[in-house]
Amino acid sequence: MTPSPKPGIMEIDVYVPGRSEAKGAAKVYKLSSNESPFGPSPKAIAAYEAAEPLLGVYPEGSARILREAIGAHYGLAADRIVCGNGSDEILTLLANCYVRPKDEVLFSAHAFSLYKIVTLANSGVPIEVPAKDLKLDIGDVIARVTERTRLVYIANPNNPTASYVSVSDMRRLHRALPETALLVIDAAYSEYVQRNDYEAGIELVSTSSNVVMTRTFSKAYGLAGIRVGWAYCPQAVAEVLNRVRAPFNINIAAQRAAVAALADMAHTQTVISHNATWRTWLTEEIRALGLRVDDSVANFLLIHFPDSQSRRAADADRFLMARGIIMRGCGSYDLPNCLRLTIGSEEANRAAAAAVGEFMAS
Ligand SMILES: Cc1ncc(COP(=O)(O)O)c(C=O)c1O
Repeated sequence: MTPSPKPGIMEIDVYVPGRSEAKGAAKVYKLSSNESPFGPSPKAIAAYEAAEPLLGVYPEGSARILREAIGAHYGLAADRIVCGNGSDEILTLLANCYVRPKDEVLFSAHAFSLYKIVTLANSGVPIEVPAKDLKLDIGDVIARVTERTRLVYIANPNNPTASYVSVSDMRRLHRALPETALLVIDAAYSEYVQRNDYEAGIELVSTSSNVVMTRTFSKAYGLAGIRVGWAYCPQAVAEVLNRVRAPFNINIAAQRAAVAALADMAHTQTVISHNATWRTWLTEEIRALGLRVDDSVANFLLIHFPDSQSRRAADADRFLMARGIIMRGCGSYDLPNCLRLTIGSEEANRAAAAAVGEFMAS
């Protein structure tokens, strides 16, 4: 008999990453993982390559150069920043550090699947708040807060629905939480949001003792492959995370590349403007085909397919894959009749819109 894992672990459905291969297609457009079509800044690539002589030695353990660069960029205290091997690591560490068996962890239905995984891995109780027409109503989250609530994960913007929570709603949620619960604002896609009533969370973290904001270099900075994320935390939370994280969790090449990526604001601006232009274009093109596309503030769109024979998301997915267009199936987000489309290069966007059009006409 093999030893049994902690209660909850065998209830976990293994995370399903976006696919990257479309067999048989002459040209492949990977639009399944919310990566940047520009990739990283050339300056980040140069910094990565320049780290070669350092590959044989341990990096500085706390990612100091990166924390200081992030601190200077956003005006934050570097000792309240904790870096992770992707923001996934930080979201996981928060659950590892704070969730005790039977503690409740709140998050939205159709939210990033990691929240449920890390809750169950710590024998916690996932509480999925139903969304109304795919939008999270903060009143519904507040209604589920109890004295057992330990963590509340809010992806803002949310993946895969591409919707967001306003500053005033986030403040309202925070006011309703007991001090024993931690509000985790996962702002992985925040760079893409262009709304006056949105904030990534810096102000709320700065002015409270139980809010953490997580960010990533995987999306707008195009560095998903080297895995760098970070959190801005209350001092006491940073001290907790620093006790538990692996001692050298950000490798030296990743630290250097992320510092250079942050400094190249022109590159980031190009990425953001391209995304805004094509987000509007793709939304309009696909809506013109008669399909529902939810308003997006991020770098991806959620497309709903008709619930009729040969027109469902699974049919569309097969049709698109055969033409090299890889989107993300949303069955694991409990949205089986949707596909998520990452906004890509102009060529990829035009190819995707044309292929969805052909599917609808087929
Ligand atoms: C909402 C959300 N949060 C966090 C992440 C994790 O990003 P990373 O671990 O690459 O920083 C993702 C990645 O898909 C995401 O969609």
